[in-house]
Amino acid sequence: MHCAFRRHDTVAFTKSVSSQILFNEEFGSPFVIVHSISFLQSDAHSVGVLLLRVEKDELDVQGSGFHVSLEWVTITKTTKESDHGYEISKRRVLQGKSVPHYAAIEPSGDGLMVISYKPYALTQNGEDKHDKSEKEKAEENKKEPLYYWQETEEDLTVTFQLPEDFAKEDIRVRFSPGHLSVALKDPLSPVLEGTLFSSIDHESSTWIIKENNSLEIFLIKKEVGPSWPELIVGDSRGEYVMDPAKSAAIAERLTHLTSDEMNPDPNKENPPCNAQELEECDIFLEDSTSLCRFDGNTFNVTHVVNLGSNQYLFSTVVDPKEMPCFCLRHDVDALLWQPRPDQQDKWEHISTFNALGYVQASKQDKKFMACAPNHSYSALCECLRRVFIYRQPTPLSTVLYNRKEGRQVGQVAKQLVATLETHDPVLGFQATNERLFVLTTKVLFIIKVNTEN
Ligand SMILES: *[C@@H]1O[C@H](CO)[C@@H](O)[C@H](O)[C@H]1NC(C)=O
Ligand SMILES: *[C@@H]1O[C@H](CO)[C@@H](O)[C@H](O)[C@H]1NC(C)=O
Repeated sequence: MHCAFRRHDTVAFTKSVSSQILFNEEFGSPFVIVHSISFLQSDAHSVGVLLLRVEKDELDVQGSGFHVSLEWVTITKTTKESDHGYEISKRRVLQGKSVPHYAAIEPSGDGLMVISYKPYALTQNGEDKHDKSEKEKAEENKKEPLYYWQETEEDLTVTFQLPEDFAKEDIRVRFSPGHLSVALKDPLSPVLEGTLFSSIDHESSTWIIKENNSLEIFLIKKEVGPSWPELIVGDSRGEYVMDPAKSAAIAERLTHLTSDEMNPDPNKENPPCNAQELEECDIFLEDSTSLCRFDGNTFNVTHVVNLGSNQYLFSTVVDPKEMPCFCLRHDVDALLWQPRPDQQDKWEHISTFNALGYVQASKQDKKFMACAPNHSYSALCECLRRVFIYRQPTPLSTVLYNRKEGRQVGQVAKQLVATLETHDPVLGFQATNERLFVLTTKVLFIIKVNTEN
């Protein structure tokens, strides 16, 4: 039994599809179930459910006027002889200011992991008020990116559209090796200020005002080569624009990769990272995505990992007995992490999708991402029509030799593009080992990826 379900505002489950209802309860305002598990708590069968709601927040007069709540409900089989039903044994509410990317209960029911941009905290009688700064408010009202940025191996270009009534004297751009500050109208309150992802040569960095009323800032990288996953640490108000030459090079790499370069089993040799790479820190940094683990009894935060430079990409269930895995960008690659709440290192790196971190950044219309539970491929879809599939190279059973060069040639990784015969928006995206399911408003498309059966 693992079938907690909802009808707008009701949690209910049955033993099997046909048999009697074991539990049925209204939970007030509408919600979605983000995760549910079935487990034993002191030998009593229990069901844990996480309900997500976006609620009006009367106390939040300066901000958006809404908050997000995560209600964690534990439903346990009653011990009374006469009663064969279930009852609510625990109900706790966490509140935050952004919809979590990921939220899941540990298989033992003893903890909760949340990945979110804004921190979550246990509510104290609904009194938990988050004060919002003016800056955050401005951010939320803004649809357009604050700036665009591009990079080459040597430099970065940051572009701002200038306000109509700007005065050239008001523009202040300040560089230091690790810091950038840009003020457009009010020299005292910069629109962008913060720590650069890596060092720049601040003496060679410059800015100009272009004829089309935009401000262009050129930053010279101190270290030539490595690409920057972000411009300002933790700032997501800018939009990255892929350099066309670079995206072509990546596409080339993907279609011509051999297993010489792409290690099919990164865990075996040459591990690209270890658990230490999800390094813990003490606090939830403002304006930066973090992964937090909450203790199920005290609701104390026991672990915080700052994911500022590791963009969250998607989550997927690899083993139904475990928590869903989450996939993060690590430089050009994407790494799949399996939470292991009962182990010392709480998160284990189980797979690498080479170049996926970079490729997905170039897909401006990207809507969903997914991967096969056995990690044999990853896929992403755009808002309309196009689906991209990236197959992992599998080690070949017979060894091939390229006669001319006399070296071992592995299987070539393939990028496949599927175009759906519809103009309806994509609403859902799920991957199994064999097939990819793409739901649009009218049609469910099933794409065969691994055609064994
Ligand atoms: C955990 O929570 C308990 C009870 O709420 C509190 O007394 C204790 O100080 C907390 N521990 C930490 C490490 O925050
Ligand atoms: C994943 O599953 C597919 C379909 O069953 C199979 O063809 C493929 O070999 C599997 N890949 C791995 C790495 O297990």
